[in-house]
Amino acid sequence: MEKINYKLIILAIIVLLAVFTFIAMKFSQVIPPSGGVQVGLFFPEDKEITAKGKELYLANCSSCHGVNLEGAPNWRSPDESGLMPAPPHDESGHTWHHKDELLFNIVKYGLEKAANLDNYETNMPIYENILSDEEIIAIMSYIKSSWPKEIIERHNQFDIRE
Ligand code: HEC
Repeated sequence: MEKINYKLIILAIIVLLAVFTFIAMKFSQVIPPSGGVQVGLFFPEDKEITAKGKELYLANCSSCHGVNLEGAPNWRSPDESGLMPAPPHDESGHTWHHKDELLFNIVKYGLEKAANLDNYETNMPIYENILSDEEIIAIMSYIKSSWPKEIIERHNQFDIRE
């Protein structure tokens, strides 16, 4: 009979433990620079990030999405050119129905790429070469921080689920 190789078994257990720890860490909550608990990609609790995000929002996004995140008037129907107007980013819109990753991708790569659409015509710009990842995250953090607590909690659920 072959001798059981205990060293190999112990090694296998260590490797398995390391893999489980790694997976557990990946799915646990990330601690943002401010030390608060955060879910997903954005930092709605971090005052410094949201203040920067508000500044960037007002400079880059508010002309279409509204100074108070209220969106364009009649945003639910196409405009004269047949394109959709800018929706609100407050709780009355559908921004909060989307996961962080999708929102980030819409802003960075554009709706067409982010949502896998073909030849989708839109007035929503692509910010890949205009804003850094940190700036996009700051803007979205500001937007998320403006939602009522209950909406923030519901939005957190989307990011935990997947
Ligand atoms: C020139 C006008 C314009 C500017 C500037 C603009 N957007 Fe948009 N945005 C739109 C339009 C129009 C849509 C809707 C597109 C559609 O549905 O076809 C949109 C859609 C979006 C969506 C998807 C919302 C949803 O509910 O699906 C997000 C997120 C978004 N914009 C974020 C931003 C951010 C962040 C900025 C600033 C960095 C910005 N937008 C600047 C016009 C603009």
